[in-house]
Amino acid sequence: MEDLTGKVAFITGGANGIGFGMARAFLAEGMKVVIADWSSSHIAKAKQALKGNNAAYFVKTNVADREDIKAAVEEAIEVFGKIHVLCNNAGVNGGGTADDPDFTDFDRVMSVNLNGVVNCSKIVVPIIKSQGEGGHVVCTSSMAGVVPLPGAAAYSTAKYAVRGFAESLRMQLAPLGIGVSCLFPGATRTGMLFPPEDDPETDYHEDQAGDFQQALWEAARDAVDPLDTGRAVVDAIKENSFYIFTNREFLQEVIDRNREMEEAFPKEEPPKGRVAFETLRAGMAKNLMATGNRPVVKGEDAGDFGISFSSSSAD
Ligand SMILES: NC(=O)c1ccc[n+]([C@@H]2O[C@H](COP(=O)([O-])OP(=O)(O)OC[C@H]3O[C@@H](n4cnc5c(N)ncnc54)[C@H](O)[C@@H]3O)[C@@H](O)[C@H]2O)c1
Repeated sequence: MEDLTGKVAFITGGANGIGFGMARAFLAEGMKVVIADWSSSHIAKAKQALKGNNAAYFVKTNVADREDIKAAVEEAIEVFGKIHVLCNNAGVNGGGTADDPDFTDFDRVMSVNLNGVVNCSKIVVPIIKSQGEGGHVVCTSSMAGVVPLPGAAAYSTAKYAVRGFAESLRMQLAPLGIGVSCLFPGATRTGMLFPPEDDPETDYHEDQAGDFQQALWEAARDAVDPLDTGRAVVDAIKENSFYIFTNREFLQEVIDRNREMEEAFPKEEPPKGRVAFETLRAGMAKNLMATGNRPVVKGEDAGDFGISFSSSSAD
């Protein structure tokens, strides 16, 4: 989408941090924004910051609750008539480690960080498609969706899954002129990450903190401004770029991880049938993604290759 003027964005978790950065960057482009958030206090603060701006509308909703989201989307359509850009951004911290026997916190994080993205996409994307005017979907993953932290299994699992979901959606929607981007923030100054000096609840004793904690505080002091992240999202929508990386300090680790994957492949050449299939599949995927920037053809088939997979169940 090259011209964003007058277009409508629906941003989950839009009342604080990165979501609010996107909202402000979109408003600066002449867009209308629906700020969908479950926190009354964040909504009140964001409303105050945007006081008098008729292009922003606020709705209280929980992305983990499908009926709640349907109602919020209906309200948004009543107010602005359409939705062109969906930002699946709401997220929470926590979830525990991979070997923690407690399921409750794991499920809580998955219900917001992964299911929230799926719920909103399945509710809003059909609306964007039916309008026939193109559009864009932005999914907020994390650097933890590329290089995970050992203590954050639920968080990393959800963020890797968001990336997988977004990659699949990208191919599905490209032939319809609807773009998809996936945002991978590293340290960004938001409600999730702030310097200890800004947090009255932090027991802040620099001299007693371990190396990792001290380094994390230092990163928080140097964290990216969420408005800059919002501007990077605007650029990605205009250019239809899939990957949005904001924190260059992770580049070498990503290169090393990709190299580890490359080196894990078998050394012997695969048989001809498999090579032919993969060459065909990769070519089709490339063609689908190349269609992403051309004009919309209403009613055109989406990019599913015309194949279906059988599913298995217990018997
Ligand atoms: N801040 C960082 O350093 C960082 C790094 C990587 C990824 N992220 C991701 O960025 C996204 C935004 O986080 P942030 O850092 O701006 O945090 P934040 O806490 O400042 O903002 C998140 C917003 O989402 C809302 N929210 C949370 N759960 C919700 C739900 N179930 N339904 C509706 N709204 C909900 C919150 O009320 C809040 O306003 C998240 O997906 C997060 O995982 C953040």
